[in-house]
Order: sequence, then structure tokens, then C-alpha cells
Amino acid sequence: MRTKYRQWAVDYLDEHPEVVFEQIDFSNPFFLDKPFKMEIGSGKGDFIVEMAKKYPDVNYLAVERVRTVAGMMVKKIVEEDIPNVKVFANDINIIFNEIKDESVDEIYLNFVDPWPKKRHAKRRLTYINLLNQYYRILKKGGLVIFKSDNDGLFEFTNEEFTKTKFKVLVSEEKYEFDSEKDAMTEYETKFRNRGQNIHRIIAIK
Ligand SMILES: C[S@@+](CC[C@H](N)C(=O)[O-])C[C@H]1O[C@@H](n2cnc3c(N)ncnc32)[C@H](O)[C@@H]1O
Repeated sequence: MRTKYRQWAVDYLDEHPEVVFEQIDFSNPFFLDKPFKMEIGSGKGDFIVEMAKKYPDVNYLAVERVRTVAGMMVKKIVEEDIPNVKVFANDINIIFNEIKDESVDEIYLNFVDPWPKKRHAKRRLTYINLLNQYYRILKKGGLVIFKSDNDGLFEFTNEEFTKTKFKVLVSEEKYEFDSEKDAMTEYETKFRNRGQNIHRIIAIK
């Protein structure tokens, strides 16, 4: 995601501690009182803001490691006064060890970076080590929901799931957008406008 350096967006994170978790304390009622779902690599937050509006009885954590991008997401959350989304503006790998076993209802991976070079496969957010982490933190019956335009990443992710204990419920080349239950991400809007197929995988613990 190319974004010009925007200091205001970084400052915005500091100015909104009610939305931004600098550290994550999973004993916070936010993670315990309602179903808890997280998106990893949220970008500017189009998806998570829309989902939070659709499902006010769910609490969402948006994880985005680029602070300027996360700042733009926080602005949307503040301006729309969305109470059920918090943001962790850092790398997901920093908090994995803090997340308790069987504590998450759903994990969304939307248009994550494909890292096309084979030698970078371990950086993909669907590399087996990460899928195993997702398995650990998901509740029984919890889901990973993956969407991507990228053929190579779709193939790789299908293959990685076969090495785990997940059961793949859905693996579709061409996902017809479900406007009732789902929300569009910024990338999804862009790729659909270009007429590209969107792939989707849903895997259950
Ligand atoms: C290609 S963008 C897609 C953004 C958004 N999900 C969408 O569909 O419009 C991927 C985003 O994931 C973020 N990201 C990649 N690896 C991450 C990690 N390990 N932890 C947190 N965020 C990450 C990147 O900074 C980038 O903003």
C-alpha cells in the first residue's frame, strides 16, 4: 500500500488512546464480553468499519502495522463514532504470544501482501506457522476467512491449509460478493472495478 508519509495520521494515533491499544491486555472486557473477531492487515479500515456497523454486538480488533495507514483507519472510527473497533497499530507477530488459546471467534485476512518470491514465502500471512497460530487462538468452530485477487497466494494458501488441522469449508475461485453479510475492503473495491476475480477461502477449527 503506497501512502505518502502523513505525520497527522501518526499523531492521530497518539491522540486517540480510546481507540488505539498500544499494548494488548487480553483480560480487558473488550475481548471477553462479546464475540471477538480480528482482521490482520486492515489497511485504511474500510472493511472493519463496515463490519462493525453491521454487527454492533461483535467487538473487532484491527491490526495494521503501518502507522500512517492505521491513523487513517482510526480517523474513520472516531469520525463515525464506532464503539466496537479497537486498533493495534503494529505487527501481528508482536501480540501472538499475548493472545490466549481459544479466545477469538473469527480471523479475517483480506488481500494480504502476496510476497510472490518463493524465498519470501515465510512472510505471507498464510504461511503454515501463522495458520497454526490462528488455529491455537481460535475458539472451536472459529473461522479464518481469506479473500484475495492473487492466484499464486490463493493456491499457496489452499496448500498450506492442507498441512494444518483446519477443515476448509469453502475454497472458491470466483467469490460473488455477499453484500448482506460481508463488507468490501479498499483493495476489493479496486479489483472488482477492474473486473478481476476475487478468491475466497473459509476454514474452520
Ligand atoms: C495489501 S494491503 C490490504 C489492505 C486491506 N486489507 C484491503 O484489503 O484493502 C495489506 C496490509 O497488511 C498490512 N500488513 C502486512 N503484514 C502485516 C503484519 N504482519 N501485521 C500487521 N499488518 C500487516 C500492510 O501494512 C498493509 O496495509
